[in-house]
Amino acid sequence: MASILVVDDDEPIRDLIGGILEVGGYDSTLAADAFEARKILKKQNFELILCDINMPGESGLDFVQYAATEYPNIAAVMVTAMDDPMLANHAINIGVYEYIIKPFERNGVLISVGNALRRRQLEIDNRTYRLRLEKKVEERTAALQDSMEKLQKSLEGSIQAIARTVEMRDPYTAGHQQRVAKLAGAIADEMGLSDDISYGIRMGGLIHDLGKVSIPAEILTKPGRITKIEFELIKTHPQVGYDILKSIEFPWPIAKMVFQHHERMDGSGYPGGLPGSNIILEARILGVADVVEAMASHRPYRPSLGIDKALEEISINKGKLYDPDASEVCLRLFRQKGFLLD
Ligand SMILES: [Fe+2]
Repeated sequence: MASILVVDDDEPIRDLIGGILEVGGYDSTLAADAFEARKILKKQNFELILCDINMPGESGLDFVQYAATEYPNIAAVMVTAMDDPMLANHAINIGVYEYIIKPFERNGVLISVGNALRRRQLEIDNRTYRLRLEKKVEERTAALQDSMEKLQKSLEGSIQAIARTVEMRDPYTAGHQQRVAKLAGAIADEMGLSDDISYGIRMGGLIHDLGKVSIPAEILTKPGRITKIEFELIKTHPQVGYDILKSIEFPWPIAKMVFQHHERMDGSGYPGGLPGSNIILEARILGVADVVEAMASHRPYRPSLGIDKALEEISINKGKLYDPDASEVCLRLFRQKGFLLD
């Protein structure tokens, strides 16, 4: 049985409405003004408020607006002697369902009440459905986010594992790929590239020398000068790395980065001798980071040349061998922003 709160300062009308509702099978509670009605609302649940407009104290419209805010599941119908279209319009705008003009007939009141209750139920069902749907979408989104993060982690884990495989055979360049990844990522960030591109460059940096797995460890770790033949062998590592990676569909052009990281702007690099315009930006950035890190680190065949010598190389050959923007940014990172390789 629906509970209805009747608010009217006119006692005979209040009682009359109460009587009609009782006959219609509703449970009604009567209040003489908004003040009393507010007190009742605090203690009791209602489905519907039937409310007069002109009452001493707070007006019916103000009260109904308050009730709609505080108790969103209660519907409201105005009952008034004033047949004013402006007022009716205002009432509808604040969410009142119906507008009954006095004098009214019993059946008219019951029809309006029945309609209002049905519409209220529909709106509640609709709201519940929408909330449930929103919650489901939220849950699915969170689950998707979670599996994306897991996927990202396992991708990064696999790349790290590949990186360690190369470095295990070649202890002198252990950490080289990590440091190149760090510097290349920092250059990409400083160049204003997107987080996604920067991340891809870091991943490419971590395994850019993967192809060295095919070179005998004695050559990689050989102290002193290497022969021309040995150097020719070392020069195959970008192609070997590319061949290993090319069939993996990374979200970034990792295989290409690996293939092109020794290419130079003037076409003097290897293995393709590509001109700068044919080298992807990621590989041009990796190229700068690779040279700086390699020169600044100890090698089996020579001690570290120092970071200043490495930066000088970049500074002299930017635009000729190395991407000019990436070079400038790299110099700025070390000289002005306190970047450190380790
Ligand atoms: Fe390399």
